[in-house]
Amino acid sequence: MEPQLELLPPEILEAQSAFAERLSACADLDALLRMKGAYVGREGSHAARLMELLKTAPKEQKRDLGAAINALKNAWEEALKTRQAELEATKKAIPAEDATLPPPRPPEGALHPLQRLMDRLVEAFRPLGYHVEEGPEVETEEHNFDGLNIPADHPARGSSDTFYFSARPDLLLRTHTSPVQVRVLKRYGTKNAAGVSLLEEKGGLRFLAPGRVYRKDEIDPTHSPMFHQVEGMLVAKGIGMQHLKGTLAYAMKALFGPGADVRFRPSYFPFVEPGCEMDVRCPLCGGSGCRVCKGSGWVEILGAGLIHPKVLEHAGIDPTVWSGFAFGMGVERTAMMVSQSPDLRLFFENDQRFLAQMGGLD
Ligand code: DAH
Repeated sequence: MEPQLELLPPEILEAQSAFAERLSACADLDALLRMKGAYVGREGSHAARLMELLKTAPKEQKRDLGAAINALKNAWEEALKTRQAELEATKKAIPAEDATLPPPRPPEGALHPLQRLMDRLVEAFRPLGYHVEEGPEVETEEHNFDGLNIPADHPARGSSDTFYFSARPDLLLRTHTSPVQVRVLKRYGTKNAAGVSLLEEKGGLRFLAPGRVYRKDEIDPTHSPMFHQVEGMLVAKGIGMQHLKGTLAYAMKALFGPGADVRFRPSYFPFVEPGCEMDVRCPLCGGSGCRVCKGSGWVEILGAGLIHPKVLEHAGIDPTVWSGFAFGMGVERTAMMVSQSPDLRLFFENDQRFLAQMGGLD
């Protein structure tokens, strides 16, 4: 049965004729819900008005009017429902992917800033003919102390400074990279069946030894029980302080740039004579004085000296024939200075944000 629309009041007919257009104008769910309220809502809607009308209609009209109202209400509800489903579907739809775009890059790994600084130091010395030597982190007293002319009563040998193994009191965690000197010197000093040592065969030796070292230090912004050093050594004939100074000045320019300036101060280490410490002009303030160099314009970067005759003798090398120099550099201290990092612990905690920031130590 066709709904008898002529029975409906004119404002309802008007609402009906505008229905289709208003429905398609609903661009989102909010607009649609507002329209739903206006047409079929419980109170104040067109449908609610029609129900009121039905109540007060003359008895003989009730049937036809009721049918017309129901048909209209059902048509509205049906159409509103369909439009709501449409709008919900477009809201959920995933935007089309462009299959020609490259996929997102996974985060890339990188070398640790301390490793990169050690690599750069090795690279700085490579053109001078230095190769890399390694030694174990678990060492003997002979390599770590005796062979380096460190006296039996030296405080560094004490168990308050050095990690010893309770089950093997002859073993310790090396306290510096200098024991690699002893190992390499012994190897180069050993004579073969023909009575010729590697040192004689090669006419000398030069190497760098980067690695971890251990000391019983409390952790604080400038101390850690584990840190890194790079040891360097050269043995040849007729080597003096001039060779040490020239080599290190050259390497520091390769490491810090052509403007790098160095100075040497006398110092004491049992395995060198004379011994010295080398400072570089503060790379941050250029020498005018700042927090990093504590106002002096210079920062200490390594210990060095001419190899003590006793160290050569211990390895079976004749100190009247051979001479050389050695140096040992603190890696963390240098990295902190170059990167202006206030706390050494940052280099061990592996916070990705810090490591990413250290992307280049240059
Ligand atoms: N081994 C020393 C230290 O840990 C550093 C050092 C000083 C190394 C002088 C050397 C050297 O080779 O000649 O403090």
